[in-house]
Amino acid sequence: MKAIEIRNRYLNFFKKHGHAVIPSAPLIPENDPSVLFTTAGMQPLVPYLLGETHPAGTRLTDYQKCLRTVDIDEVGDNRHLTYFEMLGNWSLGDYFKEESIQMSFDFLTKELGIPVEKLYVTCFKGDEDCPKDEVSSKCWEKAGILDGHIFFYGKDDNWWIAGEEGPCGPDTEMFYDTGKPACSDNCQPSCDCGKYVEIWNNVFMEYYKNSDGSYSKLKQKNVDTGLGLERMAMLLQGKQTPFDTELFMPVMSKLEELQKVDDIQSRRIIAEHLRASMMVICDGGRPSNIDRGYILRRLIRRMIRHMNKLQIDLSELKNLIDINVENLQEMYPALKENQEIIEQVIIEEKDKFIKTLTHGEKEFSKEIQKAKEQGKTKIDGEVVFRLYDTYGFPPEVTKELAEENGMEVDTKKFEELFKAHQEKSRMGSEQKFKGGLADQNEKTIAYHTATHLLHQALRTVLGEHVKQSGSNITEERLRFDFTHPAKMTPEEIEKVENLVNEQIEKDLKVTCEEMPYEDAKASGAIGLFTDKYGDRVKVYTIGDFSKEICGGPHVEHTGNMGKFKIKKEESSSSGIRRIKAVLIK
Ligand code: ALA
Repeated sequence: MKAIEIRNRYLNFFKKHGHAVIPSAPLIPENDPSVLFTTAGMQPLVPYLLGETHPAGTRLTDYQKCLRTVDIDEVGDNRHLTYFEMLGNWSLGDYFKEESIQMSFDFLTKELGIPVEKLYVTCFKGDEDCPKDEVSSKCWEKAGILDGHIFFYGKDDNWWIAGEEGPCGPDTEMFYDTGKPACSDNCQPSCDCGKYVEIWNNVFMEYYKNSDGSYSKLKQKNVDTGLGLERMAMLLQGKQTPFDTELFMPVMSKLEELQKVDDIQSRRIIAEHLRASMMVICDGGRPSNIDRGYILRRLIRRMIRHMNKLQIDLSELKNLIDINVENLQEMYPALKENQEIIEQVIIEEKDKFIKTLTHGEKEFSKEIQKAKEQGKTKIDGEVVFRLYDTYGFPPEVTKELAEENGMEVDTKKFEELFKAHQEKSRMGSEQKFKGGLADQNEKTIAYHTATHLLHQALRTVLGEHVKQSGSNITEERLRFDFTHPAKMTPEEIEKVENLVNEQIEKDLKVTCEEMPYEDAKASGAIGLFTDKYGDRVKVYTIGDFSKEICGGPHVEHTGNMGKFKIKKEESSSSGIRRIKAVLIK
């Protein structure tokens, strides 16, 4: 069964069971600087898991584009991916364990036709925070899971939380027995040997983990599930890796045809990072040296390094992108719409990287000269790390060049520094997840409303071609990216500022109305992303000035927001301008 068919069957199955099909949120969370990328289907739903009413109801299902970069260095083996699609269904205080488990069982056995002998499940074994989950294990027995196929584990395996703080709870996981021989007498679903593959996770979210490590009960009992699409496609197609499915095959075959050096790991890295970069760019991501942009940069550069390793001409990049667009557009129509910009961004980044490599080589020559003068036979790990960190110069290239000069490199020291660096960035991204969308306060809310005012003011002053292409809010400022072909003149900037400030001074009332998406569009509300909205949406109206589809929250009146001032207007990428603005009280 092809991935797209699995997706369609999943959404239809849950629709049949009373779930509203909501669209995938963008990979780059909007108006939420606390999160780097969407990493799970539940992430855009955090406010609703905490009790806010979702316009589409209490039973939801979707496919969610996700990016997880913690394991980026593992990509190339037979299972790790950075970008993946998560199929999910949610109960927001609606059904709980029994119905959730029965639906999962039916979907796996009836819709996908997985023989029950192949299914194993795990449940939470209980501890001081939460009792043993015998309700779930009984439900599994009742549904038809075989004797001896149910296991209990602790928090390490059967507890789910995104980051350190937030909604969480015990989970029950489903595993597929690949039929490989057991690695030992004690081989179980928790074993890493590859015999059992996790296919689905149902989290029974009834707790909130506080920042001090304690747990509180949530207002409502939720269910949050996640099924990895690529993995399921691989299993149902009897393939050994996701790279052998139709999702990757066209690019993988092309790489095999183009390569002059044979290396399966490099081919996987190229195929994986290419798809991930394309998805990120498609949702508005651009390479840079910080946060999201840095991750995108790393994905693209790593892909290029491996193309170099296979001695594939970099001019083939365009060709590879086209193959992917062709192959994936049915699943992600936005790839086709954004094909040009995707090509442009990747090729620009490739050109920059080539320059970096040239700089890196110069730096390297200086270092090798120094080392020789000092009579050393080994290049210091610090130097290898600096070349990597500052110039993006890959350590394996440093090693190769050193060897050509009859030198070794201190790999051990480099590894140490690299690990410390990785740990820091891992902690950084977890930190960033912590707040989630729940992390709104008076200041960020005012900036959110100011963003709507700015958006409309830009359209009034510059024209209707202005469309939001990105937004980022902190407590100190707003940043707004929009489509516009030229630098704004000082007069235009002033006009926009004045227009926004007039609206603030008028103390306009901000109202919110829920309505079907089509009605919202017909009413002239501005929408942002084509694939983002559900059937019912919230429309925020600010006086008679602005009307925009948005999840909120916003101020109730514009009066107390402060004075709006544009601090900077600059180019963000081609055809996209960026404004940074503040509210001064
Ligand atoms: N949120 C759960 C996960 O990501 C379903 O595995």
